[in-house]
Amino acid sequence: MLEARNVTRRFGDFVALHDTALDVGEGEFVTIVGASGCGKTTLLRLIAGLDQDYTGEITLNGQRIVGTSLERGIVFQEPRLLPWLDLWDNIAIALDNAPLSNTAKKEAVAAQIALVGLTGFERAYPSALSGGMAQRAAIARALVGHPSILLLDEPLGALDAITRMRLQEELLRIWRHEGVSMILVTHDVEEAIFLSKKIVVMDSRPGRVTANIAVDLPMPRDRSSADFGALKRKIFDALHDNAAVRLPEAEYAI
Ligand SMILES: Nc1ncnc2c1ncn2[C@@H]1O[C@H](COP(=O)(O)OP(=O)(O)O)[C@@H](O)[C@H]1O
Ligand SMILES: [Mg+2]
Repeated sequence: MLEARNVTRRFGDFVALHDTALDVGEGEFVTIVGASGCGKTTLLRLIAGLDQDYTGEITLNGQRIVGTSLERGIVFQEPRLLPWLDLWDNIAIALDNAPLSNTAKKEAVAAQIALVGLTGFERAYPSALSGGMAQRAAIARALVGHPSILLLDEPLGALDAITRMRLQEELLRIWRHEGVSMILVTHDVEEAIFLSKKIVVMDSRPGRVTANIAVDLPMPRDRSSADFGALKRKIFDALHDNAAVRLPEAEYAI
């Protein structure tokens, strides 16, 4: 469904992404892991259409991506809610230019607020929301236009461990409910294995994909199982091979 081919993005002489390929199937959950600076955000921004200055080709359902669109939702590490709008308006704003009746918009906003578990907080302002609630709101805003793909750039990175685990479960529930494809960027290998069907390992200098690892464990995944542990080792090894080339002393340098 999403295909990136020979994608190269330069910033001046610096090659942030070199000849990168990525495939995401319909309804597939793909996670990208890799050291800081290997081009993960750069790649997501290209897929979102926030940046179009690259060579190669990125297509969604056969159409080259041009600009941003409700068909591609994005969530960043910070929720990026507008502080002067309440929760409802922060989500509704995503539909401002959508070709929908006001009734349809209201229904969509209410449904997304319910889906992320924030019913009852419609009139709360961002300053009154916890980090986890604000990130749920950001997910609702990204989903309200019913995208076919949701891009998640370290969305749980700033949350405490307990909230993070809860939101991982929520992400799975939302993914199943919406049937949306997801690309998640994370530094957390366990999170990657818990959630995804495919893990893409990237490395820097230049930024590129160095491994594609299938996750064939049954859902829901048991973090304490031997298979889970074995896969974790395999991914750490893939990251470590990368780090070993660059930083011999470093442990898993992510
Ligand atoms: N607008 C920009 N101008 C110059 N360099 C950039 C820009 N955006 C990203 N980079 C560089 O490209 C590399 C990849 O960045 P990024 O995609 O943010 O990495 P990641 O998300 O994997 O940590 C980094 O070295 C970063 O400094
Ligand atoms: Mg990044």
